[in-house]
Amino acid sequence: MEPEKKKKMMMDSSLLQTDSPTMVSGNNSYNYAHNSSAQRKMMDTVRPRTEELIAEKLDLERLFMGAGGNTFRVADLGCSIGPNTFHNVQHIVQQVRHKYHMMTTSTAASPSSTPEFQVFFNDQVNNDFNALFRSLPPERDYFAAGVPGSFHTRVFPKSSLHLAYSASSAHWLSRVPPEVVDRGSPAWNRGMIHYGFAPKPVEDAYRAQFRKDMGGFLRARSEELVSGGMLVLVFPGLPDGMLHSETQAGSVIYCVNLSILDLVRQGVLDEDQLDNFNFPMYFPQPREMRELVEENQCFSSIELEVVDPEESTWLQGGVGLREWLVVIRSTMAEPFARHFGGEEIVDKIFDGASQKIEERAQVIMSTKCKELPLLYVALQRK
Ligand SMILES: C[S@@+](CC[C@H](N)C(=O)[O-])C[C@H]1O[C@@H](n2cnc3c(N)ncnc32)[C@H](O)[C@@H]1O
Repeated sequence: MEPEKKKKMMMDSSLLQTDSPTMVSGNNSYNYAHNSSAQRKMMDTVRPRTEELIAEKLDLERLFMGAGGNTFRVADLGCSIGPNTFHNVQHIVQQVRHKYHMMTTSTAASPSSTPEFQVFFNDQVNNDFNALFRSLPPERDYFAAGVPGSFHTRVFPKSSLHLAYSASSAHWLSRVPPEVVDRGSPAWNRGMIHYGFAPKPVEDAYRAQFRKDMGGFLRARSEELVSGGMLVLVFPGLPDGMLHSETQAGSVIYCVNLSILDLVRQGVLDEDQLDNFNFPMYFPQPREMRELVEENQCFSSIELEVVDPEESTWLQGGVGLREWLVVIRSTMAEPFARHFGGEEIVDKIFDGASQKIEERAQVIMSTKCKELPLLYVALQRK
């Protein structure tokens, strides 16, 4: 590869160390809005849980008294560009409204007026907020606002939110752990793009980064939520004791890795390009999340568990091996293109990965865990 081109790519790839990627919008065929049905299935799986939670645990009288006025404030953290966020937010608003009506019809004392809803759509600054705003449902019954900035830090005023919600986003790291791209470190992830099939120090570095990020996430939310407010997270995780390499999703990422390795061997890609590319995601186990919640001390845990696969429409909907590849490509399309030098090469990587999946289908299908399980975390601010 020409030295200038290589130098530029290395500079671009250094962005990956500090920025988590954002979803592709516009007319690209890997546009997130058209390739996020798997994430939607995840949400549909846990919707009844969230509805039950709002019905049973959300004390509206206390919340309205505490925050003053009758505006109920909801935040969707890591909303992307839709349509999933609108779907999720609408359900939450509906459920809270329903709860309010139940409350006022069952008690003599009715609060002065029906609540109004304000929904904050949060994502990274480079999310396509214009695309998001353009597709806001015209019939919505809430006031909408965009909030740019990393959810690993404070993005709202103190005690201003009643319910914060995040779907398919909390497993994203704020950056690739620096050790995994450091040649002098025992955690250098040579020839690999994730920790699933990598040596243990690599996984340890990812775990440490997740602890730092999720610690910051919980600290920020503990300041932003009112007392009695709720934090609901759903994202891919692992049952206690399971390895990421034991899931089908982990194996599919490994096939992408093998395809990139082939292209390096053929001289199409540079070894450095492979060594400098890592997925900024970590799939925690419930016990790791429990530890972080306990360390934070500001939340009572209502639910914190892996969703039983029997209950999962996500599983029943059958996310196949090819669908996994689409999920990976649509969530990582932008950093892939930026790092490896354009769509053409990314097509090659994913064509190769598709072939690898075919060759290894039997092995992959026999992995311990057929999917990537979901972690459901519901916390209440003390
Ligand atoms: C897979 S998408 C999920 C989008 C949507 N919640 C859904 O269910 O379809 C993950 C989103 O999280 C966002 N994200 C990742 N890290 C973030 C951070 N630190 N702060 C805010 N948003 C973040 C990404 O930009 C992306 O839009």
